[in-house]
Amino acid sequence: MSQVVKAKAPGKIILFGEHAVVHGKTGIAAAVSMYSDTEIRPASHGFFFDNLGYKVICDRDDFLEAHETLRKGVSKDEFLSLFKSDRTIVSKYLIMKFLTEHELKLRPMKITIRSELRKGMGGSASINASLILALARFYKVTIALDEISRYAYAGDIICHGGMPSGIDNTTVVYGGFIKFNKRNGTAPISIKTKLPIVIGDTLEPAATAVTVPKVTEMLKKSRRHKALMNEIGSISIEAARCIRRGDLERLGKLMNRNQEILREFSISTPKLERLIDASLRAGALGAKLSGGGGGGIMIALARDNNNRKSIAKAIEKAGGKAYIVELGVKGVA
Ligand code: MEV
Repeated sequence: MSQVVKAKAPGKIILFGEHAVVHGKTGIAAAVSMYSDTEIRPASHGFFFDNLGYKVICDRDDFLEAHETLRKGVSKDEFLSLFKSDRTIVSKYLIMKFLTEHELKLRPMKITIRSELRKGMGGSASINASLILALARFYKVTIALDEISRYAYAGDIICHGGMPSGIDNTTVVYGGFIKFNKRNGTAPISIKTKLPIVIGDTLEPAATAVTVPKVTEMLKKSRRHKALMNEIGSISIEAARCIRRGDLERLGKLMNRNQEILREFSISTPKLERLIDASLRAGALGAKLSGGGGGGIMIALARDNNNRKSIAKAIEKAGGKAYIVELGVKGVA
């Protein structure tokens, strides 16, 4: 008889190189101390979901249908309309994908998913990584991290409506600080000094599904933008060295330059700019949007912990919600 099982996965922030990673350049991300978690309990019959407070009872056919529909691939618009009528469709799809690939049968269960992540923090990858690890525990299947990462990536392909770079699932599964490049591979970065980061949430939804194709179009049309994208890749490589040796001053400058380039791609917003400006005025060494842009979150690098508190206050005064988090936490567990 299965027992109650749990798993949790952190969220992520991108420190450098969002969008650039989609185009084969290097980016840097870190797992953050805000989490999603999944609990699975055996049930006597039927299937019960509590997905971020959305509660639904379903049957075996609903799982089969979700698997059949999403397995073929759907456009972002198709996904949004499917998701509107069933907010558990991706979970059902991934559960069936896991069971089919492991030749296991669907068993009655109650699944509860919670998340404290904000938009732009890798929410779908984090939720799906915790779901898959909890499911493996429920079925007493040993699962490797790269397999969890593969399922979380499959979920992101659907949720993002395109081909994500893979930086989100990689970061939330392995944890720590990572230097990511989809062509050349991923490497952990060891840190010398903790990075006093503040996250500022604009409270506007991130528009990754809009900004990714927009940036891709600009790259196709303009050589200047191509050169700027290459520069982001070089910034990330230098930033990895700065993180290793704890050079916060230089990191701040690199963040500001990365943000200047992202502005050239028109994916910053007035609200992001307001929070960035407020952070810099409060003494941040650097600040930039983080993730897809077009809303979502920004990050600021403080001089020290006291400065971090002043920046958090300034972000809230400017109309955002500030989070003081630890970076480089453990991945899915
Ligand atoms: C999303 O967290 C980051 C982007 O670079 C998209 C991706 O990497 O797939 C904007």
